[in-house]
Amino acid sequence: MTSEQAKNRIEKLKVEINLHRYNYHVLDQESISPAALDSLKNELYQLENEFPELITPDSPTQRIGGEPLEKFQKSIHSRPMISLFDAFSEGDIIDWEEKDRRFLASQEILPTLFPEARQFVGGQEPEYFCELKLDGLAININFHGGLLEKAATRGDGKVGEDVTTNVRTIASVPLSLRLISQEELKSLGFSEQIIDLIISLVREGDLEFRGESVMTKKVFTALNEKYRKLGKAELANTRNGVAGSLRQLDPKISAERLLDFFVYDLIIPNTEINQEIFERFNFSIAQLKSADRGALLSTRFQSNALASILGFKTLEANRICAGLKEVFAFFKEVALKREKLPFDIDGVVVKFNDLRFWETLGIVGKAPRYMMAYKFPAIQATTIVEDVLWQIGRTGVLTPTAALTPVAVAGVTISRATLHNWDEIERLGLMIGDTVIIERAGDVIPKVSSVLVNLRSGLEKKINYPRVCPRCEGLVTKEDGEVAFRCLNPKCYAVNLRRLTHFVSKNATGLDGLGVKIVEQLFSEGLMKDAADLFLLHESDLLSLPRFAEKKAKNIIKTIDEHRVISLNRFIFALGIRHVGEESASALATLFAKSKPELKANFSLLEVKDFFASLKIEEWQDLEDIGPKVSESLFEFWHNDHNLKLLEKFSQSGVSLNLDQASLTAAADSGPLKGQSFVLTGSLLRLTREEAKDKIKALGGQISSAVSRKTSFVVVGEAPGDKYEKAKELGVKILNETELEQLLSGV
Ligand code: IVH
Repeated sequence: MTSEQAKNRIEKLKVEINLHRYNYHVLDQESISPAALDSLKNELYQLENEFPELITPDSPTQRIGGEPLEKFQKSIHSRPMISLFDAFSEGDIIDWEEKDRRFLASQEILPTLFPEARQFVGGQEPEYFCELKLDGLAININFHGGLLEKAATRGDGKVGEDVTTNVRTIASVPLSLRLISQEELKSLGFSEQIIDLIISLVREGDLEFRGESVMTKKVFTALNEKYRKLGKAELANTRNGVAGSLRQLDPKISAERLLDFFVYDLIIPNTEINQEIFERFNFSIAQLKSADRGALLSTRFQSNALASILGFKTLEANRICAGLKEVFAFFKEVALKREKLPFDIDGVVVKFNDLRFWETLGIVGKAPRYMMAYKFPAIQATTIVEDVLWQIGRTGVLTPTAALTPVAVAGVTISRATLHNWDEIERLGLMIGDTVIIERAGDVIPKVSSVLVNLRSGLEKKINYPRVCPRCEGLVTKEDGEVAFRCLNPKCYAVNLRRLTHFVSKNATGLDGLGVKIVEQLFSEGLMKDAADLFLLHESDLLSLPRFAEKKAKNIIKTIDEHRVISLNRFIFALGIRHVGEESASALATLFAKSKPELKANFSLLEVKDFFASLKIEEWQDLEDIGPKVSESLFEFWHNDHNLKLLEKFSQSGVSLNLDQASLTAAADSGPLKGQSFVLTGSLLRLTREEAKDKIKALGGQISSAVSRKTSFVVVGEAPGDKYEKAKELGVKILNETELEQLLSGV
């Protein structure tokens, strides 16, 4: 990129970022997801790094937080309210620890530091205090003489907005601090000399409590229900609910919103009264300056416990972790119970527990070195559409795919995203060269969710729909009522190859061990015209191909031989019948098993052919779980001569079928999960999707792809999709991975 191009892009990015920041911080409206905004900021940051001469003081990279709102009194923070560095993987956290180690090692004062600091540099793992990262609004609350004096938002980090009246309506914020006893302080590990000092600080001095104000999910749902009935605008999310409540002038609105507050930091500020108290107890001003950084309070655990006995709510889930291994285990545990928590969180904050590290490590740029936000994967990011490619599927459907400038989303680098179909391109108003927001939920293929039109440079290009197949140049049509373009050429190389690779794929016949390259080679060399040919191959056929050694040929024939008996559900799916996915294929296998109870293992394909070919269209239409489009497609398939001949050929090639446990269980109408239907969304941590589905089916449960009122359970993993929202809306029972495992093992 030239400097001129960078300048133009930087200008556009600044305007766009400022617009969304203003909407968010000042108007309390979320016009873009935080993850997508971070992505734009990241691009700006990278460009400014590359072209430092283009950094201006008004760049959004040069500040933190938002501007204080004019309508509020301003409140200057005793110490800046900074922000946090983000980590998205275990690797990021390991790097952070290493960086801190190197930083301390480079300090000249290291030999004079406390022994734990030197041991840390020497490779020892420190103790961490891990806290939930609450997704709300940061608030600083000042207490003077034991009474709540002032509460402020973060604002721009230095100056916040005075929201005292609103914060006073939060039930979990004490208006006066609890009078604590010497015994209580002793039990928190405070030494004799410090106890009286602390009691005086609480009674007469200044203390500040920083924390997060949150709205519980329950309150959020109830409020939105109420607003909907009243025809009022609904809250976008819990965070917006908090911000909109505290950053407005009517305390009645705050009170109605039933907010909650949790403390995550306790500050002993360097004020006149505190100096006086310190002197009275023969403590030095230097000790006051780092009182809450190791000189008085020794650990984050202790400071947390102190806030708690003074009357604040603290998080019970927070935990001391001895080293990163425990931190990672804690993170995974939290990720699993995230959905069940009463409030929204977006990760875990990992903090050095020993507060002396806070003092020594200090702050760099906009954030401290002594803590790190370990965030759940962001599911959105922004990037550029470099081209649109039309991919040909096994049924001839052309699917538009966006070729993207690679970008990391939820820990994975994405360079392609699906655009679904032409209607979607039109709906998005997409052009080549556009900056877009992409989204990745669970195991689902990433998709383009919107176009940031303000970032256009004028050089974007129109996307044309395909008039001919990009591979065979055959006729392409869009059938009535369909959204997809299809290549109609039955001999299209790409379509036939896709059919074969689908046949061998993991969830179909499981012959994927052969590899796509070999399938392609067999096909292009004419050794395999259809899938049945695979079972007619001999070692000598393979040896006639270039680059085929004897061992490789033997292995391939062996693999094929091992797959001559195929379970019926997989075989039907492998046939690649239009609209027939794994679930419909399983339903057909069950139907067959029910109708032919005498058949279990190694039956002939001809039995299957005859059975399905005998079904009338009405019979297909009457089948439960099979929609009208699918039944029409199935009827056509089993009445097409070409297909029936192919089935005979499979049979002659020595392929036979059997029934998997799930079809047998379903056919026998038994199993402990009989009658229960499951929908899965998001990625599971311990089981793959397929394993989870197989286990459910083997116990007689049914898998569905869509959530309805009839769904028994929705299993929710990490980064779930819309199905999770739908389940909540319909009140369907939700299970996390642990609960699913319990259900599967307990029945
Ligand atoms: S410690 C340097 N602990 O996350 C700021 N922050 O992304 C000290 N947050 O502005 C923050 N839960 O509002 C800390 N347990 C927690 C937190 C937490 C949520 C927020 C906080 C901060 C933001 C930074």
